[in-house]
Amino acid sequence: MTPGENTDRPVQHVAIIMDGNGRWAQQRGRPRAFGHSQGVEAVREAVRAAGELEIKYLTLFGFSTENWRRPPHEVDALFDLMKRFVDADLEKLHEEGVKIRIAGRREGLDRDLVGIIERAERRTAGNSSRCLTIAFNYGGRDEIVRAARRLAREIAEGQLDPESVDEETFAGFLDTAEIPDPDLVIRTSGEHRTSNFLIWQAAYAELVFLDVLWPDFSARHFASALDQYAARKRRFGGVNAA
Ligand code: IPE
Ligand code: IPE
Ligand code: MG
Repeated sequence: MTPGENTDRPVQHVAIIMDGNGRWAQQRGRPRAFGHSQGVEAVREAVRAAGELEIKYLTLFGFSTENWRRPPHEVDALFDLMKRFVDADLEKLHEEGVKIRIAGRREGLDRDLVGIIERAERRTAGNSSRCLTIAFNYGGRDEIVRAARRLAREIAEGQLDPESVDEETFAGFLDTAEIPDPDLVIRTSGEHRTSNFLIWQAAYAELVFLDVLWPDFSARHFASALDQYAARKRRFGGVNAA
């Protein structure tokens, strides 16, 4: 998009920081893990709504590299839900033509989970109608460091000329290679921060913060975030046409 253009063109990529599961559960006097399991229903709702809204790329933040600071039983519950979600929904998503990708660090994940992730990616690799990326064990800084390491390795091996490295080359080493930058990043739960999500890719994304806690997120909230996006003017450092 050129500077000065507004947001009339359709949104290609929406990324969501799914936040507020713990508070949702606490409000009901239930353990945090209950909020996470209800959050999976909201994930299904978001994926369905994105399809209806004809959003080609949807990226969901499921577990951050900082979430290891949580109690081990909560981390276990989140891993378990991720496995169960991919197991249960893979075939349906595949039939709908959804390409599944998992962004994030694979090292440190248990072998079962890595197996499930790889199977989902392999199974849906040929799909092209929509792309669902789940950021899991993902941190923006960690992703940039891993990308820099791979890039440095290629330079050291003589496969890449350092002088030829530009933003596009670098982005090709990120977990999101081939995925366009997000137009819109939504965060639920009323927190106003990015928490290390897509810090490279979202440089010029529009940010929409919603007060709803993630388990209550519905197609209505998705549509309201898109309405807020549509009212924005994106300038990309330029000036709006008079
Ligand atoms: C989002 O909900 C899910 C993850 C971060 C994995 P939280 O678990 O962060 O819920 P709150 O923010 O404590 O309410
Ligand atoms: C960000 O939420 C991570 C995910 C949604 C997976 P957090 O709840 O972990 O973020 P902070 O701790 O409030 O910044
Ligand atoms: Mg949170």
